[in-house]
Amino acid sequence: MLRSIRLAQALTVAAEDAYTVAMRVVKVPLGQRSYSIFIGSRLLPRLGGECARLKLGRRCAVIADARVAPLYADAALASLEAAGFAPVLLTVPAGETAKRLANVQRCYDQLAAHRLERKSFIVALGGGVVGDLAGFVAATFLRGVAFVQVPTTLLAQVDSSVGGKVGVNLDAGKNLVGAFYQPRLVLADLDILGTLPERELRAGLAEVIKYGVIADAALFRRLEREVPKLLARDPATLAAVIARCCRIKAVVVGRDETESGLRAILNFGHTIGHGLEAISRYGSYLHGEAISIGMVAAAALSARVAGLPAGDVARISALLDRAGLPTSVRLAAPQRKRLLAAMQHDKKVSGGEVKFVLAKRIGEVVAGQAVPEAFILESIPVQSPTFEPKS
Ligand code: NAD
Ligand code: GLY
Repeated sequence: MLRSIRLAQALTVAAEDAYTVAMRVVKVPLGQRSYSIFIGSRLLPRLGGECARLKLGRRCAVIADARVAPLYADAALASLEAAGFAPVLLTVPAGETAKRLANVQRCYDQLAAHRLERKSFIVALGGGVVGDLAGFVAATFLRGVAFVQVPTTLLAQVDSSVGGKVGVNLDAGKNLVGAFYQPRLVLADLDILGTLPERELRAGLAEVIKYGVIADAALFRRLEREVPKLLARDPATLAAVIARCCRIKAVVVGRDETESGLRAILNFGHTIGHGLEAISRYGSYLHGEAISIGMVAAAALSARVAGLPAGDVARISALLDRAGLPTSVRLAAPQRKRLLAAMQHDKKVSGGEVKFVLAKRIGEVVAGQAVPEAFILESIPVQSPTFEPKS
């Protein structure tokens, strides 16, 4: 069934500014499990105070990866201690390959050794890898303890820290073990993006561009104008764009928390992107880079199947390119076969059929679209030179 989803009306509400001039607040409306996303500068020092306002238990664990911990763990721990909490730090390896069950087990063992209790809570201090991993630990340790997201990458601030998808990868595919488990608070401190490597910043822009394609043509036009400002980390532009992306995600998640329909639109570009990550064993492409290639392929499929104008295909590809993201991949015949096989493990497969999110135009997509295998293969762009990471 072709389902067309328009979000424009819901997104006209301009209620993001609420707390102070410097900080924006976006609410994720989920009844009793509703929570706020704070977006602004100098928020990490407020972590403890905000956790105290939520009346979270005294004992807590901050989970961070080996790159982020030396940069920001002291500030997080100090803020928590100043607010009367008794935090411990758990460090996990950095990078996508860390998102696996062995590291979940290690976290459980350390939490048990530190005697965390049902009322204790976990702070995920890091990018999407730590957020997904620590969130899954929180969802399952003692059958669930509270958790707070402190996203430290652009990708995590606009996407992974919001909406409650937590989990880890299997060799067979991305995010195949997980849960829906909402955080109590998301604290997106823009200052923390200052130390983010440029390649990671660009990877985050892939998910930002995705929001424009799936739900917001005006955001897409803004990105076309302002991608240089985002790459230069202009604080005002970052704040406005991050808040807009969070607002879109909050509306989508508020309407369809567990992805029975609408939420699937957030997976634009992810079917092929996740397949690429899996066949490269999560080592070659950053998540955002794989999604960028996946979005270009999804745009080509959309032109063929869903009527996306050729001009829109070109704009999507050009914007990703200007953001410094890969838009094509060279795959030998056996790799193409493996890619198709990997896509069969995607969570969006239903009745053995791989399902795609396709765009009708920039700002409007349809989910749940079955596409012939030949079209999928033809959509994977192979003409340009192989992508070389720039930093
Ligand atoms: P990441 O968590 O691996 O972080 C990227 C790298 O940057 C890591 O090496 C990290 O140590 C480093 N880093 C993070 N913040 C830093 C900072 N401020 N300064 C310096 N270095 C910093 O990658 P990511 O792109 O944030 O997240 C990707 C993951 O998110 C994937 O596993 C993807 O599947 C997941 N994801 C989940 C959702 C969801 O809804 N749960 C949505 C999108 C993506
Ligand atoms: N990033 C996809 C989702 O949260 O549903």
